[in-house]
Amino acid sequence: MKPVILDVDTGLDDACALLLAARHPELDLKAVTCVGGNVGIDDVVRNTLTVLDAAGRPDVPVARGAAVPLIQPVRSARHVHGEDGLGDLDWPRSTRSTDPRHAVELLRDVLRDAAATGELITLIPLAPLTNIALLLRTYPEAARGLREIVFMGGAAGIGNATAAAEFNIWTDPEAAAIALTAAKDLGIPVTMYGLDVFYDVVVTLDQARALSGSPSAELACKLIEKRSERYQSDGGSIGDGGAVCAVIDPSGLTTLEYPVRIELSGSWSRGRTIVDTRGASDVANDPQGPAATIRVATAVDGKRYAELWLATVS
Ligand code: RIB
Ligand code: CA
Repeated sequence: MKPVILDVDTGLDDACALLLAARHPELDLKAVTCVGGNVGIDDVVRNTLTVLDAAGRPDVPVARGAAVPLIQPVRSARHVHGEDGLGDLDWPRSTRSTDPRHAVELLRDVLRDAAATGELITLIPLAPLTNIALLLRTYPEAARGLREIVFMGGAAGIGNATAAAEFNIWTDPEAAAIALTAAKDLGIPVTMYGLDVFYDVVVTLDQARALSGSPSAELACKLIEKRSERYQSDGGSIGDGGAVCAVIDPSGLTTLEYPVRIELSGSWSRGRTIVDTRGASDVANDPQGPAATIRVATAVDGKRYAELWLATVS
């Protein structure tokens, strides 16, 4: 069992990730923390509880975290995820309460326990990195409970929120910069599951419509239907779900190690992850000094991960 924590801004693809993480037999989902992003924090919390109920996991603690980014105003993505963030499916809402702790305190406590038992946790942020930045700067000792961070965000190629920037980083560039710097300072291995692979794990409508017989399967079907509507295609990508697949089955993902910087001040490039693919000599002689070197996903076995997701949510 791999102990994991997801940090989410539940939207449709975070929901795909939650169903997978909650139901896969090799993952021990210790907690889920929420942050404002795709939609407002109250909608994120409600959606997260609702999806975990559908997955049959009301035991997993859910904590509310940062409602807004560290500096810039929050800008939602309701045009992608619907007004309520879950495709406006009118899915039965959870009546469960959140954990009374703030997300950062829940993360601190679970990671402290993990450090004590030695069962180090893989942290899987699938949203703006506001909670993660706050955690690593407020409780740096919590890093002792971390095996690694595998986050969905950024892109070596083009963005989505803007031509230059991917939504999670664009929403809170300062948090991303702090999180990467803190991870480097604290010696935490980081993998970036960016847009370069994000769209490549696709479930067809036919595959989705074969899912039935449980709330998880029925919700999974509706999530893919909504995702395919958005892109007018005969299938939908599980988006954030691919990052969880990469934790379950790392051999389905190709990564290369590159220095990565976050652009904080560009008029048109703010929030860009600048993935430095130059040769070693250029990097070593960079007048701007060293950047955090992380694993960057460059290719994914989309069919393999789609089958993993389908087998688990059904
Ligand atoms: O850019 C895609 C990311 O932004 C995904 O995590 C999606 O859920 C949104 O948060
Ligand atoms: Ca997300």
